Amino acid sequence: MLRAAGAATRCGRVPTPLEPRADMSKDLGVELLLKREDLLDDLGCGHKARKLHYHLAEALRLDASVLLTVGSLPSSQSVAVAAAARRCGIRAHLLYMGDEQAQPATAHGYYLLASLLGPTITWHERRPWAEHAAALQDAVQAEIALGETPYPIPPGMSSGPGLLGSIELGLELAAQLGSSATRPTHIVAPAGSGGTCLGLAIAAVALELDWRVTGVCIGASARAVEDQVASLCQEAGALAWAHSATNRVTFHDTHSVAATRRHRGRNWNSYATRFDATGCCSILST
Ligand SMILES: Cc1ncc(COP(=O)(O)O)c(C=O)c1O
Repeated sequence: MLRAAGAATRCGRVPTPLEPRADMSKDLGVELLLKREDLLDDLGCGHKARKLHYHLAEALRLDASVLLTVGSLPSSQSVAVAAAARRCGIRAHLLYMGDEQAQPATAHGYYLLASLLGPTITWHERRPWAEHAAALQDAVQAEIALGETPYPIPPGMSSGPGLLGSIELGLELAAQLGSSATRPTHIVAPAGSGGTCLGLAIAAVALELDWRVTGVCIGASARAVEDQVASLCQEAGALAWAHSATNRVTFHDTHSVAATRRHRGRNWNSYATRFDATGCCSILST
């Protein structure tokens, strides 16, 4: 069905700008450039739009008739998936769940945006987030029973084709820096699934750049993100660079005082706050 629609799979506008930021550089005492991944699309889905391109290409190859994903109320991924499905003329099926999540009486924020895009929505009220994979799998089976060809996209979008989006980000960044006077050695990015950091590191290994990547964890603990990255590496086994790339990545708990001290007194918490607010990937030149 997706094939018949002749859909274009690119989501968002690339390349995103790379901005020298004198204000933040002065504030933090390092030369800092900001990669504006928040400008990828107009719905505020940021880096998810970049990863989604590769998932859509795979969904197109499989001729999917419905895109599924699972998220909590503030999920921008759900909005990105609903928008892409609508643009491609197929259906989106969004699952909402989470330990304390209940359907709001009045839709607001990203949930309102997703709802307006006309997806099928299934609520699992106050269902533990740990069960999201099982819920997604159940929904896939239900769609198959309806005669549909479902394409599930897990939270974070980093698995499978999604990691290619993060590698693309690294290659794009390297190309932009090639013509820049600044040669950053440190890249700092928000880490949810850890896929963005892993993709940046894989690009660095492939291009033989001396980047070190720091992930500021915005959800799970650093330990849990490291585990997720290890399983992403397993999955990306065909990419010979994936395993050596993990040596270049360090994950920090957002509010870890120890992590702050380890980094020569720099205030990583302040970075985290900014990244949460801007959704940007940032580069430090030290
Ligand atoms: C705004 C923003 N940028 C980047 C990321 C990094 O995502 P990941 O580590 O899953 O690739 C996240 C994670 O949820 C995020 O919310």
